[in-house]
Amino acid sequence: MTRVLGQEISRRDGPAKVTGAARYAADTRVAHAAYAVIVPATRPRARVTAIDLDEASKAAGVIHIFTHENTPKFGKITVVLADVSLPPLQDDTIRYEGQPVALVVAETLEQATAAARRVRVSYLAEPFDVDFLAGLDRSEPVSEFFGLPLDTSWGEPEASWREAEIRIEASYQTADRHHNPIETAATLALWEDGRLTLHDATQGVTEQRDVLAQALDLDPARIRVSSGFIGGGFGAKLWGLPHQLLAAMAARELARPVKLVLTRAQSYTAHGYQPATRQRVALSAGPDGRLTSLRHDVTAAGAFIGDYMEAAGWDTHALYATPSFRITHRRRRLDRMSPTSMRSPFGGVGLVPVEIAMDELAHRLGMDPLALRLRNYAEVDPSGERPFSSKKLRECYEEGARRFGWTNRAAAPRAMREGRDLVGYGMATAVLRAFRFPAAARVSIDRSGRVLVETGAHDVGQGLSTVFRQIAADVLGLAIEGVDLSIGDSALPTSTFTGGSSTSMSAGSAVHRAAEGLRRRLAETGANDPDAYGAAVASLGVERLAADGEWAPAEDADAPSIFSFGAVFAEVRVDRDIPIPRVSRVVGVYDAGRILNPRTARSQMSGGIIWGIGQALLEHSDMDVRLGRFLSKNLAGYLVPVNADVGEIDVSFVENFDHHASPLGARGLGELGAIGIGAAIANAVFHATGIRVRDVPIRPEHLLA
Ligand code: MOS
Repeated sequence: MTRVLGQEISRRDGPAKVTGAARYAADTRVAHAAYAVIVPATRPRARVTAIDLDEASKAAGVIHIFTHENTPKFGKITVVLADVSLPPLQDDTIRYEGQPVALVVAETLEQATAAARRVRVSYLAEPFDVDFLAGLDRSEPVSEFFGLPLDTSWGEPEASWREAEIRIEASYQTADRHHNPIETAATLALWEDGRLTLHDATQGVTEQRDVLAQALDLDPARIRVSSGFIGGGFGAKLWGLPHQLLAAMAARELARPVKLVLTRAQSYTAHGYQPATRQRVALSAGPDGRLTSLRHDVTAAGAFIGDYMEAAGWDTHALYATPSFRITHRRRRLDRMSPTSMRSPFGGVGLVPVEIAMDELAHRLGMDPLALRLRNYAEVDPSGERPFSSKKLRECYEEGARRFGWTNRAAAPRAMREGRDLVGYGMATAVLRAFRFPAAARVSIDRSGRVLVETGAHDVGQGLSTVFRQIAADVLGLAIEGVDLSIGDSALPTSTFTGGSSTSMSAGSAVHRAAEGLRRRLAETGANDPDAYGAAVASLGVERLAADGEWAPAEDADAPSIFSFGAVFAEVRVDRDIPIPRVSRVVGVYDAGRILNPRTARSQMSGGIIWGIGQALLEHSDMDVRLGRFLSKNLAGYLVPVNADVGEIDVSFVENFDHHASPLGARGLGELGAIGIGAAIANAVFHATGIRVRDVPIRPEHLLA
C-alpha cells in the first residue's frame, strides 16, 4: 500500500471543530461549578490601600471574594516554563496594570461579572515606567536566556566595518504585539479526595502540572491537567499563569469546582505579549556584495517581574557567511506584565531588521536582493563552521524566484505601476533553529486491530493529531482510519509542551519509536500483516498489546547545526494617493527536512505568512504612557489581518530527509512561516514607493512623505 506518511491528509480533528462537537476547556460542564472572575488592577505600579467589598459581597449569587488579605500563600515556583513570577493575590503590591487584585466567585458567570464591577479598590499610586522608547539608555545587557548563551561574535566586526567601502547602519523598531487566539484562556479546577484535575487551555499539560504542584505544595502524581482541544495558543498558553493558580486555589478553598475564563480584554494583560524592540543593524560589504561584517544589537522591552528576553538576535548568525560578526542583547525592564513567547519569537522579530538591512545593502550596491543573498550563501553554520544537518535554501531561492516571477522585477523602486497602484516586489530569507525536547508515547492495538496512539503532547491547531496518526499508521502498514488518538493529558506518556516548532520532531519521534516497538512485538507472534494483528493480540490472551517509545535529542558536541530555512517573496500594491499597502501575492518556499503531511504543513506556512502581514502592516499594541496600560484591549483597536487583507499565497517545500533532526527526517516547521515575511513585505513597500520604513508595522502615515 502507499505510505501514509507524506500524504496530503485533511485534519482528522477538522469535522469535530467545525461542527462544534469538539469540547474546549470552557465547554467542560460539571455539576455544582462556581464561576470566578478576576478584578484587575487599574494602575501599573501602586500599593493597594483598601479593598471595599461591602457592595460586591452583597451582590446576588456571590460565594466568596478572594483578595491578598484572605488568599493562602502559594509555594515558590521554579519550573522553567512558568510566567508566574508574581503569584497572584499574595500582597498589596501592584507591579503591572491588569494584575489580579481580587477574585470574585459566584454561582453564575453573570453574577460573578456583575459583582466584580462592585469591588472598590483604593490605591496609593507610585511613579511608573512603561515607555519603552523613552529611556532606552536604562537597558541592561542580557547574556543568557534559558541557560543558553545569547551573544555571539567572531572576527573583527568593528574594524572590518570601519575599513569597508560599502556600509549600512540603521535602527529599526518592532512593535508590542498581543496573541489573540480565538479561544481565550480558560480553566476548570476540580478537587476530589485531595486530587486536583484541571481542564485547561494549555499547550503544556506536564509543565502546568508541575507548576501547580509547586504552587499548591502537592505531589505531581495527585494532579491531572487535561487539555483536549485548543483554540489557538501561539505561545499565550505555553506557560504556567496566574489565573490557573487562582482557579485551583479557589476550588480547594471553596470545596467546589471553579471555572475561570479570561475575557478578551483580560487576555491583553494575563499571559504576556511580544515585546517591542529597537534593533540596530550594521553591515559592511565589498563592491561585489560579499559581506565583510554583520552586527546586530537588540534592545527589547522587558518587565521588572520575570526574566523574559526577546532574543531577537539568536538566529542571525545562521543567515549569511561573513568573516566578522557580532550580536548583543539588552533588555529594558518596565512596569508591565512580563512579555512572553509569541509565535515565532526571537528570529521572527530579529530577522525583520536584518533582512530589511540586506535589502538596503542591495539597493546601495545596485544589486538584485536575491543575488546579494546568494553571494553570501552560508554553506556551513558560520558561527562555528559546523555543517548544517541539511540545507536546501539555494533550491528554495530558485524555486521561489521561479514561482513568483522575480525576474520581472524592475531594478529601481517606484518603477512598476498598474493603474493607480504602485507595485513592489520584496523578498527575504527565513531561518529557524531546531528546538527539540524529550518526549514519550505509547502505541497499542486491540483485538479488533484498532490502534491507539497516546502522548501528553498537543495539537494546538497545526495538525499534529493527524500527523501522529499518520506516523503510527505508516509504521504498522495501516490506513489512517485505523488509528485513534489520545493527547493533551498529563496522565498520558510525558512529553514536553507543544511549542518552539519542536513537537513533530520530539513527540513525533516518540510515537514512531512506540509504533516500531509494537510492530516488533506483533512480528514476534508471527503477525506481519495488518489482517493478522487482531488475532495476534487475542492469541496472547490480552485485550490490548502496547509498546512504549521514548525519544530525546542526542547530546553530541560535534552534532551538526540544525536549522530550517525558507525564501519568501511578496508583492505589494500601494494606491498612489492613498498609501495603504496591500499584500497581493506571497510565494514561500521552505526547507524543513521531510514533510510529513504537505496539506497541514502548507496550512501552517500560510498561517505564518498571514502573521507576517500583521507584523508588517497592522499589529501594534499602543501603550498609553500616561495611564500605564495598553490602549486597545480588543480586536477593534488591535488590528489583525482579515481575509480582505490577504492576497494569493503560494506555499511549497523543497524536501529532503534530515536524519540528524529526527528519525522521521522532519525538522521544525510551525514557526518558520512567520519568519522573514515581515521583512519581505517591508522591502516590497520600499520597492513600490521608494520610501524606506524601518518601523513595523508600516502605517499609512509613514508613507505620506
Ligand atoms: Mo510557541 S511561541 O513556542 O507557542
